[in-house]
Amino acid sequence: MDPKNLETVIGTDLEKVIALLLEDQVVAIPTETVYGLAGHALKPEVIRKIYEIKQRPGHNPLILHTLNVETAQQFVREWPEWAEKLAAAFWPGPLTLLLPKSDVVPSELTSGSDRVAIRVPAHALTRTLLERLPFPLAAPSANPFTYISPTTAEHVYRQLAGKIPYILDGGPCAKGLESTIVGMQGSVPVVYRSGAVSLEALRRILSHIQTATMEHHADQPVAPGMMKKHYSPRTPLILCKNLKEEATKFPERKLGFLVFGSGTGLENSGVVQQLSLAGDLEEAATGLYAALHALDGAGLDLILAELLPEKGLGLAINDRLRRAAEN
Ligand code: TXA
Ligand code: MG
Repeated sequence: MDPKNLETVIGTDLEKVIALLLEDQVVAIPTETVYGLAGHALKPEVIRKIYEIKQRPGHNPLILHTLNVETAQQFVREWPEWAEKLAAAFWPGPLTLLLPKSDVVPSELTSGSDRVAIRVPAHALTRTLLERLPFPLAAPSANPFTYISPTTAEHVYRQLAGKIPYILDGGPCAKGLESTIVGMQGSVPVVYRSGAVSLEALRRILSHIQTATMEHHADQPVAPGMMKKHYSPRTPLILCKNLKEEATKFPERKLGFLVFGSGTGLENSGVVQQLSLAGDLEEAATGLYAALHALDGAGLDLILAELLPEKGLGLAINDRLRRAAEN
């Protein structure tokens, strides 16, 4: 069969997904953060398939997904105290740890780096899958390179139909933002990618945790989620302070709006995606990518978006919005 023209099935048949993964195929799986494009994490040829489907450059490494702390420890050479504390607090859940890799982890997974990114996901279906499989899963977000991450099976279908045989449907993702990535810089634990675990929550467990000081780019292997253009709709997106005022600058254009709280007075103008009427950051995170997918599919000329408060999950959401605005 032409690998680029597969029939893509959306369903909940775990036996089918297990059979496909045992045959070294790549499938989409749900997690609590975003959907992942999953395959055997320890086989270079499967890792290559994932890169090809995602059209991702080979220097951007993949996260290894495993069942629990015990299985995670098989894939690292060191298990420092900070990792133990964070794993105890946040696994299973949306936290990824970057640690020195053990020899069983192929360098294809880490793009040649000596460190491997590991996470223990919380989604029940995917946990059952990991319990049943004799190997861990490599899974980048199931979107083509630089495009918006998928938070429903339908989002995956729209982006990858014909390229993968199966999408395991686990419903809409509960968190809606990628995992937070924590590693070490020297002897200090640092956050490399903000995500569904907030900095405040991390600091309650590790008070001395820092945020990564440099902006890393795609051409550097230690670059977790830090490429400038990323998470982007195809429709141009502009960030602004006052949506209504900004809109007056584009009288001839078909506009869409990404709105956070209430009271913007935009209810009847163009296409409006409201992230949280109550101004709740977690609710906004959960619906962020679905709102961007909806706006991107609405045939607009331009999306105007406002930044959220720079606290809690607002930091991670704003990080995604800033990258979405890059062109
Ligand atoms: O929530 C998530 O983390 C989702 C779900 C599917 O688990 N996965 C995800 O994967 O967001 P991906 O590939 O889209 O983003 C993973 C990020 C990339 O930016 C990559 O550069 C970084 O993690 N990364 C992975 N392994 C790394 C390594 N060994 N060293 C440095 N960065 C790494
Ligand atoms: Mg991604």
